[in-house]
Amino acid sequence: MIAPSILTADFAHLADEVAAVDNADWLHVDVMDNHFVPNLTMGPVVVESLLKVAKVPMDCHLMITDPGRWAPGYAEAGAHNVTFHVEAAEDPAAVARDIRAAGGKAGLAIKPGTPLDPYLELLRDFDTLLVMSVEPGFGGQKFIPEVLSKVATIRKLVDSGELSILVEIDGGINADTIEAAAEAGVDCFVAGSAVYSAADPAAAIVKLREQAAAASPHLSL
Ligand code: DX5
Ligand code: ZN
Repeated sequence: MIAPSILTADFAHLADEVAAVDNADWLHVDVMDNHFVPNLTMGPVVVESLLKVAKVPMDCHLMITDPGRWAPGYAEAGAHNVTFHVEAAEDPAAVARDIRAAGGKAGLAIKPGTPLDPYLELLRDFDTLLVMSVEPGFGGQKFIPEVLSKVATIRKLVDSGELSILVEIDGGINADTIEAAAEAGVDCFVAGSAVYSAADPAAAIVKLREQAAAASPHLSL
């Protein structure tokens, strides 16, 4: 799955930018509050408008403090998957329950420096794990390959039937990095600049999808 991130899109023409990627699997929308991360993007008002024009399921990535207060509202508004950061939540399992009760899939995001092991049990309460491969906050950063060991750990648990979760990666994914991520076992690839800096964003999605599929050992299992 390819999930283009509109963070690198032209914010003055968001509806057109969303339409340009309607061959994507998910539409990745980065919500930042200038508190959990040093950048500010959009909130529920803009997301609700985007939901009216988006033809593919929306994947909301909340880089905000106090996700328990805000995350369920995104699911209620119609977002398909709502992901928040484990570093920001006091009771992540409770937030996941509230997102699901509001009709969404629940996602847990972890920053590059956050270890996964303490949260393996917690993942049973989630539909998606978002492994950050850059520090959250900005598009166009360099991929951090060390995070792939976390992907490989989860892939093993999923393939052996011990865990059921979708593995997503976010940050620095492009034609040079997507194969390594696919080999490690990623299911869903977020790509911002690689899609929106391309002359033809829809064609960039097709290319990335082909590259990922060819390099994904778990797809041929
Ligand atoms: C960063 C965001 C990403 C970002 C990815 O905090 O979560 O979704 O848009 O952009 P690229 O693909 O350019 O690294
Ligand atoms: Zn993101």
